[in-house]
Amino acid sequence: MITIDEQKCTLCGECVPICVRRILQMGEGSVEIIDPGMCLYCGHCKAVCPADAFQFSEGNDQFLPVPSKEEIPSAAPFFRFLRRRRSLRLYQARSVEKTKLTLLIEAGRYAPTGSNRQACEYAVVGGRKALDEVCTLAIRNLQEQGKELQKVIDEYTRKRRPLPEDIASRQTLPSVWDRIARKWEEGVDQLLHHAPALIVIHMKKGLATTPEIDAAIASTHMVLMAETLGLGTCYIGFLIWAIENSKKLKSFLGIPEDNKALVAFTVGYPKVEFLRFVARNPARANWVGEFEG
Ligand SMILES: Cc1cc2nc3c(=O)[nH]c(=O)nc-3n(C[C@H](O)[C@H](O)[C@H](O)COP(=O)(O)O)c2cc1C
Repeated sequence: MITIDEQKCTLCGECVPICVRRILQMGEGSVEIIDPGMCLYCGHCKAVCPADAFQFSEGNDQFLPVPSKEEIPSAAPFFRFLRRRRSLRLYQARSVEKTKLTLLIEAGRYAPTGSNRQACEYAVVGGRKALDEVCTLAIRNLQEQGKELQKVIDEYTRKRRPLPEDIASRQTLPSVWDRIARKWEEGVDQLLHHAPALIVIHMKKGLATTPEIDAAIASTHMVLMAETLGLGTCYIGFLIWAIENSKKLKSFLGIPEDNKALVAFTVGYPKVEFLRFVARNPARANWVGEFEG
């Protein structure tokens, strides 16, 4: 629910053009909400209102003053900060404080989401016992998936038929997953890299308009937040495949069956220091129209 305090509203009109749903209009004594059911609860109206005339049924206490422009990191150091982030695969055994993991989730919570659906949920795993269980279940599942995939590949090969594109792009996975499984038996974790913590972003199916994008943006906020706390992270794409394929693993992580796991990443204190930026391919950008500056 959103309401306007008519006593406070000065009819300055700041809120009217900023409303994404265009449901605000200038009224007689105050701004009026034409169709409250269309509200996205994005809070832009309240955030620009000099009189603080808008009231939401929840979350009003979070509309605190934003930092001044001087507090915003300038472009050059911020860009260097972005380029400094690396996927971390060598972790100290030291555990990650719950306060820091909570801060990462807070960073994810403030990420933008399509239609402001805010559907991200988080499974957080810490401690050797729980992480080892995740590894065991995931690696076992990936190995089984690999065997099934290999059977399909062998069948195409036997019939001398070319592999369909989606199978061709995955044809190395059975041997990769087999190697990860063999290493796990030797006590080497090539899936989660012996990280002391893991976060999985999942979402109730059908709730978000852009689930994959929402989860990716939330995780970007989180991994960058982690860097500011002296932590490193590594996205683990394989784990998502395992979670979505193993009811046991999904249940162990406390992810409801009708939720979809979308992004997973490990978190921990680095055991290695990166001294140099890395190379990236040149950007393939297509510029359309006219530009200045
Ligand atoms: C969606 C996604 C999935 C990934 N999955 C894995 C993974 O399963 N295991 C792993 O060690 N690294 C994984 N990575 C890390 C990439 O290998 C890494 O981002 C890339 O090599 C670039 O290196 P950088 O992150 O250090 O800049 C993944 C990255 C992304 C974005």
